[in-house]
Amino acid sequence: MKSCMVQGAKIISTGSATPSVKVSNEQMSSIVDTSDEWIFTRTGIKERRLLTKYGQSVTDLATRASLQAINNISMDPSSIDLIILATSSPNDLFGSASKIQYEIGAVNALAFDITAACSGFVIGVVTAFQFISNGTYENVLVIGADVLSKWVDWSDRSTCILFGDAAGAVIIQSCSSNLNSILNFHLSTDGNYADHLSIAYKEQLDPHPILNLYQGSFQYVSMNGKEVYKFAVSQVPLSIMSCLDKLNMSTEDVDWLLLHQANERIIMAVAEKLSISSNKVISNLSKYGNTSAASIPLALNEVVELNQISRNDIIVIAGFGAGLTWGTIILRW
Ligand code: ACO
Repeated sequence: MKSCMVQGAKIISTGSATPSVKVSNEQMSSIVDTSDEWIFTRTGIKERRLLTKYGQSVTDLATRASLQAINNISMDPSSIDLIILATSSPNDLFGSASKIQYEIGAVNALAFDITAACSGFVIGVVTAFQFISNGTYENVLVIGADVLSKWVDWSDRSTCILFGDAAGAVIIQSCSSNLNSILNFHLSTDGNYADHLSIAYKEQLDPHPILNLYQGSFQYVSMNGKEVYKFAVSQVPLSIMSCLDKLNMSTEDVDWLLLHQANERIIMAVAEKLSISSNKVISNLSKYGNTSAASIPLALNEVVELNQISRNDIIVIAGFGAGLTWGTIILRW
């Protein structure tokens, strides 16, 4: 732990993990009344990966993604100071990050969860950046991981076709401030619309007979698709523009646009509003569906592995989802 000083931060490694089981749109049409044509034209999704193995959870995917990021740069896990797990589908409501800390051998790391749905990874990276820039920590592992298949009503065709399971991870390291790759960020929440997207806790009608308190259980994912669509297409471009403006940058300076992989129509509508051409748009949701907090690091790791990103490229990353919460990070790679 260091004393207070302004440090830069940069992503030095990425990793991801997906379950091996693929479920195509055709297979979905044997589960609910839908079709490949309906799903693909409305969402851009062709197939998704589902965690079907008994006893496996978000922790298993998150651990695999983290180990890939660590092993890619032959890092000693004991040099990790902090682990942030962004997830809305933990296998322990007290948090799952500590299990990952143990599994990867990051014996010196503090570990905690962040719950911010599809914006969780962006908020995790910004949180890591705060700890690094004030000199508290040097190496932070940020993971976005979700297994919403465990929280979806598989008889509800309006939601079950959308989601897939995955994890993605990045290692962020302190650097001298002139090499800082996190150039700016913007985060927002509008809780007035929280009910548009939720996994709500519902209390039973009958209270405890003596204590008179109510207990309950979590429900399935519920979503007002049209409202979420309108929110994303209106707010995400504003968030990106305010971030670019503060850097005296324009959308012409952007080399890559990496949005939360919720829906191809949202991604393309945002790109169009920003006049960013489709060949600068990173998209892999046709293969994985909406993997919530995992979608951004999963797609980032894919383009990194394909060597598509060059040094000094400007990447605009934006997350949006339940809360409603949204945010942007501008990176120089
Ligand atoms: N297959 C076939 N028909 C379907 C399906 C399906 N899987 N789901 C719904 N329908 C039907 C509906 O029942 C409805 O039929 P009706 O007209 O007879 O009543 C019709 O299709 C239209 O339904 P809508 O819900 O109005 O469909 P819409 O055009 O809004 O598309 C979608 C739904 C794709 C979810 C859209 O609202 C959308 O893109 N929303 C954005 C939200 C999003 O992407 N959420 C992802 C998770 S949230 C996040 O990550 C931020």
